[in-house]
Amino acid sequence: MYRLGVLLSGRGSNFKNILNSIKSGFIKNAEIVVVISNKADANGLNIAKENKIDAYFIDPNGKNREDYDKEVVAKLKDYRVDFVILAGYMRILSSYFIRSFENRILNIHPALLPSFKGLHAQMQALKKGVKFAGATVHFVTEELDDGPIIVQSIVPVFDNDDEESLSARILKTEHKIYPLAVKLLCEDKLLVENGRVKIKNAEVPDENFFITNPLIGGEDGI
Ligand code: GRF
Repeated sequence: MYRLGVLLSGRGSNFKNILNSIKSGFIKNAEIVVVISNKADANGLNIAKENKIDAYFIDPNGKNREDYDKEVVAKLKDYRVDFVILAGYMRILSSYFIRSFENRILNIHPALLPSFKGLHAQMQALKKGVKFAGATVHFVTEELDDGPIIVQSIVPVFDNDDEESLSARILKTEHKIYPLAVKLLCEDKLLVENGRVKIKNAEVPDENFFITNPLIGGEDGI
């Protein structure tokens, strides 16, 4: 059984979805043992408590990045965490943190990386006028929103979209691909070779896959 630690800063909908995917049996072989937030009022902390998962606010005030991360890493180690799941965690990790959990940290970003890294990714996509947007789950490396890509989803961008409507469309797919990535991770199916993630024993899809794939679709397809 793999032990997961979740870091978040806000709403917590991705965390909740991963939790539900464990409860439903979609993700096997994993349990969320601890949730940590850098924000005292993060709704994700409430979700954890409602579900009887240990949850901590660790106050970043007055600490430099590395000292703060040392506290967070210590807490994760107390709980013997195998994998760290970033779910809307709005802090850049120090190299101390990344080295402590090398190749064992996952993040989700609301864009088709490597495009639109950083904050307000959906707005960046709108401003560029792209016709497709999406989300990416990736392993975390020292570079922000970089690292080997595990799963991506695609959604169309419509002429009348604003940041809110596009974010909502992307979020629906985030809730599919993050549990999928965690499932593959916990089934030991992810192989990283030269910065590229391969899925062990994955069937090679034919072109119809891209038409029928539920992770790619329009308003009704997602
Ligand atoms: C998501 O859009 C995620 O891609 C980004 O932060 C947001 C977190 O949302 N990293 P939630 O807290 O999981 O609802």
